[in-house]
Amino acid sequence: MNTETQTSTFDKQIPLQKNPNNRFLNLFRFIRDSLPFLQENERKYGGFYEIELGFSKLVILSEPELVKDVLQHQHKSFIKSPEYEVLSDLLGKGLLTSEGDHWQHQRKLIQPSFHKSYLQKIYALMLDEIVKAADTLSQKPERSIEINQEMMRLTLNVVTRSILGSQMTPDSDKIHDTVTDLLKYGTSRIRNPFFRLLYPISYQKYKSTQHIKYLDNLVYKIIEERQRTQHPHRDLLQMLLDSRMEDTGKAMPLRQVRDEIMTFMMAGHETIASALSFIFAHLVHDPKLYKKVQEELKQVLDGRHPDFEDLPKLQLLQQIIDEALRLYPSAWVVGRKAKESVKVGNTIFPKDSVFLINIFAMHRSDRFWKKAEEFQVDRFTSDFKKNMNKFQYIPFGLGPRMCIGNHFAQFEMLTVLAVYLQKFNMLALDEELPKPKNTLTLRPSKPIRILYR
Ligand code: HEM
Repeated sequence: MNTETQTSTFDKQIPLQKNPNNRFLNLFRFIRDSLPFLQENERKYGGFYEIELGFSKLVILSEPELVKDVLQHQHKSFIKSPEYEVLSDLLGKGLLTSEGDHWQHQRKLIQPSFHKSYLQKIYALMLDEIVKAADTLSQKPERSIEINQEMMRLTLNVVTRSILGSQMTPDSDKIHDTVTDLLKYGTSRIRNPFFRLLYPISYQKYKSTQHIKYLDNLVYKIIEERQRTQHPHRDLLQMLLDSRMEDTGKAMPLRQVRDEIMTFMMAGHETIASALSFIFAHLVHDPKLYKKVQEELKQVLDGRHPDFEDLPKLQLLQQIIDEALRLYPSAWVVGRKAKESVKVGNTIFPKDSVFLINIFAMHRSDRFWKKAEEFQVDRFTSDFKKNMNKFQYIPFGLGPRMCIGNHFAQFEMLTVLAVYLQKFNMLALDEELPKPKNTLTLRPSKPIRILYR
C-alpha cells in the first residue's frame, strides 16, 4: 500500500457543506483570484460543498470517490456544464463539446487514431516539427526566450502538422494569433458574467466571427485539396476522411471533419504548452534535477533524437511530467450539469445542478498528498503509480469523456524535452518560479524568461 495516499479516511456518507458567504462577494473573489479562493474553500469546507457565485449555484467536488461517481459511474446522468457552450461557437459538434449518441459515435470512430500504435505511425511528423523548431531557435541571434511563447507556437505547429501532415500551411503565425485571440475571448466569457452579457454586441464578438471564418476557409481549402489528390497520406485528417459509419458505411460529413480538426487544434496545444513551460521553469531553477535529466538523456539517447521506442525509457522525464501535471493540471477544472435528479454522496440534487470537479485543489490537497504544494519529482515512481488511488490524480479527466489526446500529449512532451534539453543549455532569468493562473486552461501568470546556449 502506498504510504502517501490517505484516502482510506474517505467516508461516502460525507455530508454536503455550504459556503455561507454573500453570493456577490464570492463572485468577486472568484473573478479576481479563483485558484486561491477555491483552495481556501477546499480547506474550510472539504471536497464536497455548495457555493453561490452571483446568480449561479455550484457544487464543487474534489473528493476522489465522488469525482469518480460523477465522471464515471453516473456519467449517463450528466452532460457537460454550460461553460462548454462558449467553445461550441468554434468547435461546433466536435468531440469536446458534443453529447449523447452523436458524441459516442464520433468517439468510437476517432479513438483508434489516438491509440499508441497509430501515433507511432505519425510520430515522425511530430519529431520533425519539434526538431525544426529547435533548429530555428538555435539560429536566432538573441540568447533569451520567453519559453511559454516558444511552447505555444511549437505545440500549435505540432498538432497542426499531425493533423495535416505534409499539407501544413505556411500561415502558422496567423493561425497562432487567431487561435490565441479566440482562447482569450473564450476565457473572458467563462470567467466574467458581465463580459458574457455584453459579448453579443462587443467588438470581440465581431473579431471572433472573423477569426472563425478565417480558420474555416483554411480548413475547408485543405480538405478540398486533399480530396482532389490521390496520394496516400498518413495523418489525422486522412484518418477522419477515411473513417466510415459502422451502420451505413457513409463517410463523415465535411462539417464534422472541420469540427474535429478545430477541436484537436484547440484542445491539443495550449494544454501541452503550459505544462511544458512549468517544467522548463522548474528545471532551470533546480540545477541538481537538471543535471540528473541530462544524465538520463545521455544514457538513453547520447545526443540522438528520440525514436518512438526510446520514449518509455525516459523514466525521470516521465516522473517530471507526472508531477508537473499534478501541480499544474492544464485542465484545472471540469464541469458537468445533471440531466436529471441525481444522488451524489448522500445528497439528492435536482436536474440542472452544476458540478465543478476541482482538479487543481484535489491535486494540491494535504488530505491526499504529502507536502502537497511542493514539486517532488521522486513522488511518481512506478510503484507509487501502481498503488495510488487513481481517482485523486486525474490530469486527463476520468471516465468515458477522458482526454482522447492523453498519449499524444505524453509523447509530445517527452520529445520536446528530450530534443530541447539535448540541444540547449538553459538558465533561469527570473528569480522566482512562475505562479499558475487560471484562464480556459491553467498557465503561467507571467512570461517565463530563459537564457539558452
Ligand atoms: C497536457 C495535455 C492535455 C491535458 C492536461 C488534457 C486534459 C483533458 C481533460 C481533463 C479532458 C476531459 C474534459 C472533461 O471531462 O470535460 C480532456 C478532453 C479532451 N481532450 Fe485533452 N488534454 C490534453 C491534451 C490533449 C491533446 C493533445 C488533444 C488532441 C490532439 C486533446 C483532445 C481532447 C479531446 C478531443 C477531449 C474531449 C474528449 C471527449 O469528450 O470525448 N487533449 N482533455
